[in-house]
Amino acid sequence: MELINRPRRLRQNEAIRRMCRETRLSVDSLIYPIFVDETLTGKRPIPALDGQYHYGVDAVNEAVEECLAAGIRRGILFGLPAEKDAQGSSAWDKKGVIQEAIRAIKAKHPEFYLITDVCMCEYTDHGHCGILCGHEVDNDKTLEVLSKTALSHVEAGADMVAPSDMMDGRIAAIRAILDQHDHQNVPIMAYSAKYASAFYGPFREAAGSAPSFGDRKSYQMDPHNRKEAVKECALDVEEGADILMVKPALSYLDVIRECSEAFDLPMCAYSVSGEYAMIKAAGNAGMIDEYKVMCESALSVFRAGANMLITYFAKELAGAIQKGDIG
Ligand code: PBG
Repeated sequence: MELINRPRRLRQNEAIRRMCRETRLSVDSLIYPIFVDETLTGKRPIPALDGQYHYGVDAVNEAVEECLAAGIRRGILFGLPAEKDAQGSSAWDKKGVIQEAIRAIKAKHPEFYLITDVCMCEYTDHGHCGILCGHEVDNDKTLEVLSKTALSHVEAGADMVAPSDMMDGRIAAIRAILDQHDHQNVPIMAYSAKYASAFYGPFREAAGSAPSFGDRKSYQMDPHNRKEAVKECALDVEEGADILMVKPALSYLDVIRECSEAFDLPMCAYSVSGEYAMIKAAGNAGMIDEYKVMCESALSVFRAGANMLITYFAKELAGAIQKGDIG
């Protein structure tokens, strides 16, 4: 055969394949989720998330130290408060679970970069992501409590806040309150295109944050929609977001691609609890090779255009990057 084009030339061996990789991953792009439970001392496995733990404030540095040992220097904190009420007031309590966890981590590991998830669903007794008016979440009232919460995280020492509630106007509201209090340099990572997804199931069990009635479809996005994601991102850009996010990741690679091309801001993707649980379950059942599927899934998110990834597999992926299996 007189074939001039033989793409297999660049696939002949490991050395050339690694040289020609189009997608590069780094441990610097990985963010690890950490769950802190106010009622707990020590750590306890999360049944819904095989291999993940709830940490008491006293033990949260164990999670951080495991990250640091793996080369992961960034985490996102989720809180399980001791008390919940209709307003979610423990979310902005100066002595709340997240605020205390931030102080405990920063006292010992100031170099560990702390992002906080800003949302009300873990703190409200009804489990919705904001203040209710009847059976609806009142958008503008919710902006007030989200802003207070974000400010209290930053005052406790958070490096970055990540609002995940999907209220309209929350990036502008949070930017305004942070700036009023001289926190102009604290960035906001916006959960911009966050879909109303069934993939959050294990997280809601882990965080005790499932809504007690109804669902989140009146604030989180409809999975049918793509242009709406572009619109949400555009609004967050206008309102002053520093980083955009698409969530979940694997079922929304098209959205990651489109939004990362449409906007100049860094793009984060969140590989959510259900994505992790599926890989774990199929791996445990011997149906797939967990390690290889984990690697391939993570790199597909970067290939789609993400610049960073929040993932429960962060530590394992760091190992894969170090070995050269990916990245
Ligand atoms: C809080 C929040 C959720 C997740 C991140 N922040 C749950 C939800 O919106 O119901 C899900 C993360 C995951 O599934 O891993 N609103």
